[in-house]
Amino acid sequence: KLKACIFDLDGVIVDTAVYHYKAWKRLANQLGFDFTEEQNEELKGISRIDSLKIILNWDDVSKTDEEMQELATLKNTWYVDMITKMTPKEILPGAKEFLALVKANNYLTALGSASKNSETILKQIGLTHMFDALVDGNKVTKSKPNPEVFLVGAQELNVKPEECVVFEDAIAGVQAAKAGKMKAVGIGKADVLSEADLVIEGLFEMTIEKMENL
Ligand code: G6P
Ligand code: MG
Repeated sequence: KLKACIFDLDGVIVDTAVYHYKAWKRLANQLGFDFTEEQNEELKGISRIDSLKIILNWDDVSKTDEEMQELATLKNTWYVDMITKMTPKEILPGAKEFLALVKANNYLTALGSASKNSETILKQIGLTHMFDALVDGNKVTKSKPNPEVFLVGAQELNVKPEECVVFEDAIAGVQAAKAGKMKAVGIGKADVLSEADLVIEGLFEMTIEKMENL
């Protein structure tokens, strides 16, 4: 029986995926190259430094560790500029309602995000209080598809992995949930997120019944 819902943040609760894309694109352009929206799918759910490594690899650019830290920090400065202007209007359709619904039905809730900016974002959109546990990039070190972030979430909620369902927009995130022996609901396109137990367009489509039938 399911006891807990673990939510990714970027692209599930709020559309920060667009801001990540914009900031990475700006960085790539500054370095003299570009990447497509399709390539961007590979970055979703991946930690800041690992994302940078992937981007540099696309164009065979090599940088020292120190240069990479600087570039990642620069990207984050641009990203933070965008997210500190966010408002609750940017909560994705149905996200707040579904969080309220699962809580009303006595499920536990956790955040499971690779982001080190999750606290800022949750504060900006006013949803911090909706989570019983917050696990993000400040607490874990292994990037999705490693299940660490979700397993720590389950641990903090005091439930077994088998009792959790994960909501994810990233391929790596769906893989992380499955690697952790959890149910996975993909948010996005069914062909991209084919490894998920169910794919929906957004949390506005989700019901308790669909969750119980996974
Ligand atoms: C999420 C996003 C990624 C991002 C990562 C780290 O998983 O999907 O695109 O790179 O968080 O975010 P941060 O805010 O710490 O740079
Ligand atoms: Mg995401």
